[in-house]
Amino acid sequence: MAEYLIIVENLVSRYGEKIVHKGLNLKIKKGELYAIVGESGSGKTTLLRELLLLRPIDGGRIIFNGKDITKLSPGELEELKKRIGVMFQFGTMFSSLSVGENLVYVIRKRYKIDKHTAVEMAKIKLTLVGLKPHVFYMYPHELSGGMRKKASLAMAIATDPDVVFLDEPTSGLDPISAEEFDKLVRTLVDSTGMTIVQITHDLASLLFTDRVAVLSEGKVVYEGEPKGMVNTQNPWLRKLVSTLRFRRLILGK
Ligand SMILES: Nc1ncnc2c1ncn2[C@@H]1O[C@H](COP(=O)(O)OP(=O)(O)OP(=O)(O)O)[C@@H](O)[C@H]1O
Ligand SMILES: [Mg+2]
Repeated sequence: MAEYLIIVENLVSRYGEKIVHKGLNLKIKKGELYAIVGESGSGKTTLLRELLLLRPIDGGRIIFNGKDITKLSPGELEELKKRIGVMFQFGTMFSSLSVGENLVYVIRKRYKIDKHTAVEMAKIKLTLVGLKPHVFYMYPHELSGGMRKKASLAMAIATDPDVVFLDEPTSGLDPISAEEFDKLVRTLVDSTGMTIVQITHDLASLLFTDRVAVLSEGKVVYEGEPKGMVNTQNPWLRKLVSTLRFRRLILGK
């Protein structure tokens, strides 16, 4: 049986009268690269906030590593949060600190270690995301868009989380930098065994993901390999798979 890191069962989310998720189901395996796609307003950000334990759910269950998160004590929830990394769309670095100082800050907030060890750890993370050692001394505003995304990814993996969530990681990047980033994420998953979940609008990113969940009308209307998306009846998904971009990129025709 596959080992699932996260299982979402019959999830219900609402804002007042508005129901965003109407019994949503998905399962994320340990060590896979998983994508979440869906039209604007389909509830991707809401789902992300719930998976990050930042927003309580209104129904159903989220099971993390075999444990129902609604049954965890506040202390257990805090421990779980430490095992989750996130890269938000607009980054999370302090602009007054260098990239290295930012990394050392999050590493020392998490682990009780001396500064020298934290610096060494930070340098390893920079190497893992394909940045040169001198980037350690650069400030966020001195980085190109592609470098900034990589540095933000280094921040997200700085404390060795079990799972990392990426929110629109390639948005704003040119196609070459976007592909470089996609490949980097793929390599990270393959070389570290980390689970990475990315919310994306970028169809080209799906070429590198193991599985994808498609959100529409409050549910997951497809979960599986990107190529299998063609076999569904959901109207939004039918529109998506009939676009030239999808046919060329994902189906190669
Ligand atoms: N704080 C809020 N209060 C009320 N309604 C909200 C709130 N946040 C989101 N919504 C509504 O919930 C629905 C889902 O929003 P959400 O931001 O999760 O969608 P999304 O899939 O992330 O969209 P996008 O692709 O545009 O980022 C939308 O209709 C939105 O208007
Ligand atoms: Mg959103």
